[in-house]
Amino acid sequence: MAPVNVTVTGAAGQIGYALLFRIASGHLLGPDTPVSLRLLEIPQAVKAAEGTAMELDDCAFPLLSGIEITDDPKKAFDGVNVALLVGARPRTKGMERGDLLEANGGIFKPQGEAINAGAASDVRVLVVGNPANTNALIAQSHAPDVPRERFTAMTRLDHNRALSQLSAKLGRPITDIKKLTIWGNHSATQYPDLFNAEIDGQSAAALVNDEAWLADTYIPTVAKRGAAIIEARGASSAASAANAAIDHIHDWVNGTPEGDWTSMAIPSDGSYGVPEGIISSFPVTCSGGEYSIVQGLEINDFSRARIDASVAELVEERDAVKSLGLL
Ligand code: NAD
Ligand code: LMR
Repeated sequence: MAPVNVTVTGAAGQIGYALLFRIASGHLLGPDTPVSLRLLEIPQAVKAAEGTAMELDDCAFPLLSGIEITDDPKKAFDGVNVALLVGARPRTKGMERGDLLEANGGIFKPQGEAINAGAASDVRVLVVGNPANTNALIAQSHAPDVPRERFTAMTRLDHNRALSQLSAKLGRPITDIKKLTIWGNHSATQYPDLFNAEIDGQSAAALVNDEAWLADTYIPTVAKRGAAIIEARGASSAASAANAAIDHIHDWVNGTPEGDWTSMAIPSDGSYGVPEGIISSFPVTCSGGEYSIVQGLEINDFSRARIDASVAELVEERDAVKSLGLL
């Protein structure tokens, strides 16, 4: 079997370090699929990426057929099948939101162009670098020849956090919880929906039976977990983010389990009143390498208000990058 080309940007960063070894050991695509890694970094970090590559070599992974390291997006994305866009410009002191969006535009525009120019016809793109949804939109808009649904952003970490918090509250194993959804943006406005989630066929929200806990504890705990990790660790989540990236691509390629779904931020087709085109998180099932939005869910007033608020933030972000000429 020919190896699958997997490109990781920001490969010398903390998520990169937690991600690469799991890709090379077969967790991303399965135990029978060889992978060839391309590591993209900025020139100053190429040497550190080379160090990580030395360690990858030293693991003698049977599935790892090669590693290339470059600071040139065109080389990094030539023939790419799976692109994990992790490297991004973090917000630094005194930086305004517009500055952050502009700095990330400088990264995701050329990467989108390079994907457009050289990617394999089956390319799948996951954007992890923040602001992930809007960075995905920027990359997508510069890759007009790639089907737009191939550009996705990561809300799987939020999904996993939401599972874990619910499991702790109800004292039920994670595996009992099905059909949980993160809606909206990977930001503090995201909405983890328990009204459509199920445990043994019963509504998770009904089992919790405490709307105040839902509104005042559960939702903010999940939505602000990233900030809580930064506060505790002094750095943003890395291993859990890498784990979620593995889950996202693994399920997209290999399918979601029967009777369950997952959360992915994907270009909206207008479902559930989310404006067409913005990259927003939805409940999705995956099969045959394609995802589809779960249709027909009931959205109550509690959920509607929260989905609308997160979507409004995404529309604002889209308009901001549009006015900066990044789309
Ligand atoms: P990090 O600072 O440790 O690493 C980022 C790496 O990206 C650095 O090595 C940097 O040199 C590289 N980089 C910067 N610009 C680049 C470019 N143009 N091309 C290639 N590489 C480039 O950061 P990290 O902890 O690995 O986090 C990476 C990103 O992921 C951040 O934006 C973070 O906010 C985001 N994140 C997202 C989620 C999520 O759930 N979506 C979760 C955690 C972190
Ligand atoms: C997370 O959810 O852990 C990160 O997106 C937080 C961040 O700002 O890097």
